[in-house]
Amino acid sequence: MDRRDTDAADIGAEIMAHVAALARLSETPDGLTRRYLTPQHRQAAELILTWMREAGMAAELDPVGNVVGRYEGTDAAAPALLLGSHIDTVRDAGHFDGMLGVVTAIASVRRLHEAGERLRHPVVVIAFGDEEGVRFRSTLIGSRAVAGTLDPAVLEACDDDGISLAQALSDFGLDPSALAEAAWTPDRVAAFVEVHIEQGPVLERRRVPVGVVTSIAGAVRYDVEVTGMAGHAGTVPMALRRDALAGAAAAVLELERACAEGPDDLVGTVGMIAAHPGAVNVIPGAARFTMDLRAACDETLRQAEATILRRIGDLCAERGLRVDVRKTHTDSCCPCDGALQAALGKAITGEGYPVVSLASGAGHDAMAMADLAPVGMLFVRCCGGISHNPAEGIEPEDAEVATRILLRFMRGFVPAGARV
Ligand code: GLV
Ligand code: MN
Ligand code: MN
Repeated sequence: MDRRDTDAADIGAEIMAHVAALARLSETPDGLTRRYLTPQHRQAAELILTWMREAGMAAELDPVGNVVGRYEGTDAAAPALLLGSHIDTVRDAGHFDGMLGVVTAIASVRRLHEAGERLRHPVVVIAFGDEEGVRFRSTLIGSRAVAGTLDPAVLEACDDDGISLAQALSDFGLDPSALAEAAWTPDRVAAFVEVHIEQGPVLERRRVPVGVVTSIAGAVRYDVEVTGMAGHAGTVPMALRRDALAGAAAAVLELERACAEGPDDLVGTVGMIAAHPGAVNVIPGAARFTMDLRAACDETLRQAEATILRRIGDLCAERGLRVDVRKTHTDSCCPCDGALQAALGKAITGEGYPVVSLASGAGHDAMAMADLAPVGMLFVRCCGGISHNPAEGIEPEDAEVATRILLRFMRGFVPAGARV
């Protein structure tokens, strides 16, 4: 790190303290669950506004509830370097997924501010309100709104309590009709760079604190409904049943088999399943489940999708069940910008570490931001490779290394267009 920063407070301790403070803002008394536009999201946003202002940024909420902090550069006309990640969580989440990228970005800007240092380009830190999509079942709402690709139809999407996104925005004090104003135009953005916990075991195995992301896997998600015939658990012989849950269970195993037969990067998950009417002595007449499929290459994903849907259709037909599928999410595979990968690699070697490159199997805000600007990602080593789990963790030393690298990257940043 630059000598200018050596008097700064311990960066690792600052980051761990900020992550811990955000982790206390949970909808549940135990563990961490913080969905988009909840009171806990509001509290997290207020805390981040405070940290951003303390770090010398002008900060406010945008029309979709993202927290946006701006640290001016020396050239008022220069496009901004955007940094950040998300502050919503999955249910019973880890503390670092998303939040790490926000707090490392703020910590980096704070070092510039404390050193009285301005870069040529403005630096804008964004804490996106929704990436995980837990509340409205539509992922990346915050970053898609900024990228200008959010479908306004999502305003009608409802949460489990029947509250629409439009209503939730109003309840949060925002104007749903102003959603489009969250969008940035490409001329205002030089690049988007996201620091994120790796959420897997690769960096730990390679014994390095950070890695450069080469690409982000594509993903599709489905809601599947299997319909059979509800009946008495004691009176209907096995051969005469049309048990929707048994059909759904067979479908889950088909998905697992199809993914295991495919390339290593193809993965599939059924994370939610429910039987209806849901009583111990009733044969399930309907079953609903979700499917999440991912792969590093769009063609692999497309083929897997077709195979799995065909096999589920066939097995349901054999069982006399009806199956209805609804695609709820599509994201193409997203390559990270080559020049940003090189620049992040240079910052890593500048701090004395080897450059390890790796693909991301998880989805990130950078996927949505790629529609707006070149994107780059820096992964931080994850303890035990565990994520989407309360046991998720990183070492404070790695948080400090990531922040130093981000800062070095920012100081050396030259937008792609300026290189030619
Ligand atoms: C986001 O965490 C994802 O599901 O990849
Ligand atoms: Mn996540
Ligand atoms: Mn994340």
